[in-house]
Amino acid sequence: MSTQPRRTWLPFLNADIPAACDTPAKTAAFELELGCKTLGIEAPALQVMPDMGESYEIKDGVITGGERGVLYGVYAWLCAKAAGEEPPAGPQKPFYALRMLNCWDNADGTVERGYAGRSLWFEDGRLDWDGPRIRQLGRMLSSAGVNVLCVNNVNVRADAALLIEDEGLPELARLAAEFRRFGVRLMTSIEFSRPLAHGISTADPLDGEVQRFWRERADAVWAAIPDFAGFLVKADSEHRPGPFTYGRTHAEGANMLARAIKPHGGVLVWRAFVYNCMQDWRDTSTDRPKAAYETYAQLDGQFDDNVILQVKNGPFDFQVREPVSPTFYAMPNTRLALEVQLAQEYTGQQIDLYAMPPMWKELAQALPPETVSAVAAVSNLGRDDNYTGHPFAAVNLYGFGRFAWDPQSDPEAVTRRWARLSYRLPAAQEDALVDLLMHSREVYEKYTAPLGLCWMVNPHNHYGPNPSGYEYDLWGTYHKASRDAVGIDRTASGTGYLEQYPEALRAQYATPEACPDNLKLFFHRLRYDYRMADGRTLIQRIYDDHFEGCAAAEAMGEALKSLEIPEPDRAEALERMEKQIKNAREWRDVVNTFFHRLSGAEDEKGRKIYD
Ligand code: GCU
Repeated sequence: MSTQPRRTWLPFLNADIPAACDTPAKTAAFELELGCKTLGIEAPALQVMPDMGESYEIKDGVITGGERGVLYGVYAWLCAKAAGEEPPAGPQKPFYALRMLNCWDNADGTVERGYAGRSLWFEDGRLDWDGPRIRQLGRMLSSAGVNVLCVNNVNVRADAALLIEDEGLPELARLAAEFRRFGVRLMTSIEFSRPLAHGISTADPLDGEVQRFWRERADAVWAAIPDFAGFLVKADSEHRPGPFTYGRTHAEGANMLARAIKPHGGVLVWRAFVYNCMQDWRDTSTDRPKAAYETYAQLDGQFDDNVILQVKNGPFDFQVREPVSPTFYAMPNTRLALEVQLAQEYTGQQIDLYAMPPMWKELAQALPPETVSAVAAVSNLGRDDNYTGHPFAAVNLYGFGRFAWDPQSDPEAVTRRWARLSYRLPAAQEDALVDLLMHSREVYEKYTAPLGLCWMVNPHNHYGPNPSGYEYDLWGTYHKASRDAVGIDRTASGTGYLEQYPEALRAQYATPEACPDNLKLFFHRLRYDYRMADGRTLIQRIYDDHFEGCAAAEAMGEALKSLEIPEPDRAEALERMEKQIKNAREWRDVVNTFFHRLSGAEDEKGRKIYD
């Protein structure tokens, strides 16, 4: 692997970090000196106050903070200077204590749903990495504010299970040391049924031998890595093993593991992505979005205090647009984490532009702050030179970190900060780039799946249109487009999903008229001749959105060409933009033809719809 420094939003820090910087405070001192030298400015003083933890304050020429706080303070100060802005005023502390990146990296070096190349740290069944690159990544994570990194896929396969066993622990401890200096602690995904591989006849969480197995594993892990963050578990989900096999609840399963790691201060992150993935499409009594709430709401209050239940942002699975999962409102006595996906599985796969900061703002406004105390993002990282495949996809990694630090951040300011640090364009060009990014999500939504329509993608790889691709499949993912109507009635008279929300939220979605356009077909089944608030019929709106979304993608292509983004990013972005435009045209024509064939309705504007 090459050790050339890569372009990131910290272009002014590209020297390797000496091994002597073995703590965040020492790293902070090094970064400050180096950053000031590169920027040609005078360094402020640094003061470490261990009690301040992750907090910091920049005042009167001094950056004061805890062991990790000073590092955040130094990056905040350097980034502000590089961007020509004022450093943050007053005491600063992160809103969420756990700001986690979940990497879906497999031990063989592949990345599940990875669109930026192979894994940065796995190869041939073991951990293996390029030191300078990992340290540069550590800087990126720390400067964004991420403090936990889960290194392996939630689907634990083959050798990944060995990470926490005697074979894998020494290497994991070395990787933990690389990230420690940036205030980033490691976590691993574990397999619930692992005791079976050790000659134990069961993985039943109430079995004494199973409990002993996990206690011994936890003791060994924390002996090797004393600041290890904890374990992440995907159980009884998409064929992964779990407590249901033994007739136990998910509280019993999670608590057993949580108790094994409790003496070491670890957290047990348990994913709530549990649903029937073997549904029969003829079965109308099951509605997949109801699944997480049905499994977990009844368990509220039963989880130990070091368990965090990690809930995906929407009730389905990272679709282009979903309502906020009702599970967030149903568990006031449980620690919850929000899970989002930076990897653009359903949102353009780091080919199409899809900047997420506006989404963070919507989520911040919707989530109840009393119960959600942690955030996790499925990583968009890989071994590509620019780390994220599309050079602009880095805005999502940076944006996630900033949102996790301060959910009230202004999405445009975050996007601008990233653009400014990364490219230093003239003002008008910077405005154009920020504008492009800020609108990229709505453009993508328009040419793919407007109005809350989900799952019209090609099965399995999830890129490109296929309106019936999941329609008769077993994943519970149906839109039921017919000759007359499309969408699912999820109100009380339909599947009842809406009833899972608190009263006030229910009212927002209860009728097609009250429901915002971008979720109309998620909550309601509407006839094609239904009149939208602006007077257009539903079918006309579907046609219009696809035509307009595609035209907007073409216009984005033109706008991009006029930007003097430094190479190689410019060439990479333009190459991807060509693919995006091709994809947008495909979506426009396939979806419009699909609905035209079904409904027979003509486009009022007489545009080309293929027969
Ligand atoms: C999606 C994704 C899978 C992943 C799963 C999960 O279904 O397609 O690859 O394993 O989410 O979140 O566990």
